[in-house]
Amino acid sequence: MPFFEVRHPLVRHKLGLMRDKDISTKDFRELTAEVARLLTYEATKDLEVGPHTVEGWAGPVEVDRLQGKKITVVPILRAGLGMMDGVLDLIPSARVSVVGLFRNEETLEPTAYYCKFTSQIEARLALVIDPMLATGGSLIEAVNQLKQAGCSRIRALVLVAAPEGVKAMEEAHPDVAIYAAALDERLNEIGYILPGLGDAGDKIFGTK
Ligand code: URA
Repeated sequence: MPFFEVRHPLVRHKLGLMRDKDISTKDFRELTAEVARLLTYEATKDLEVGPHTVEGWAGPVEVDRLQGKKITVVPILRAGLGMMDGVLDLIPSARVSVVGLFRNEETLEPTAYYCKFTSQIEARLALVIDPMLATGGSLIEAVNQLKQAGCSRIRALVLVAAPEGVKAMEEAHPDVAIYAAALDERLNEIGYILPGLGDAGDKIFGTK
């Protein structure tokens, strides 16, 4: 399964700013959207385009148009919402589907409590967004839900990935490409990514 660490200088610079422990909620939120935009650019660079004729200033001109059904962007609640506007800036006509997960206290597995998918999900490319790929449990379950609904073209966009999460995704969903702004070192004993960003949801929403 392809894993792409997007090592563009702008991505590295912006992610570096996000690692500062004193960053404000406003700056963290804005940078999350900016990095999401750059990841979207990378994750869509092989989309198919086809010929289309428009009436140009000097007569008919053949231009490229994106082909196929519209994309759906799939934030995993809640932190994934922080990346949504960045993705929609570049793909304004994308449909939004959401996946809400909670941790089952008996099995400790992420379990879906809410899924709302756009129509014709089976015909769309799904871009699943979640800032942190830690153990991989949430992303794996979100992809399970999408596949159960018939979606077969799925990509994941994350700000920071841990090797443990990438490996888990490779085993569970080898067909899903992951685009990350950084591949970090490891998880700590409570499942946080090191050096990571801390709790991305709290930083985006200004909670805690
Ligand atoms: N979720 C976060 O917000 N941060 C981590 O480091 C891991 C999971």
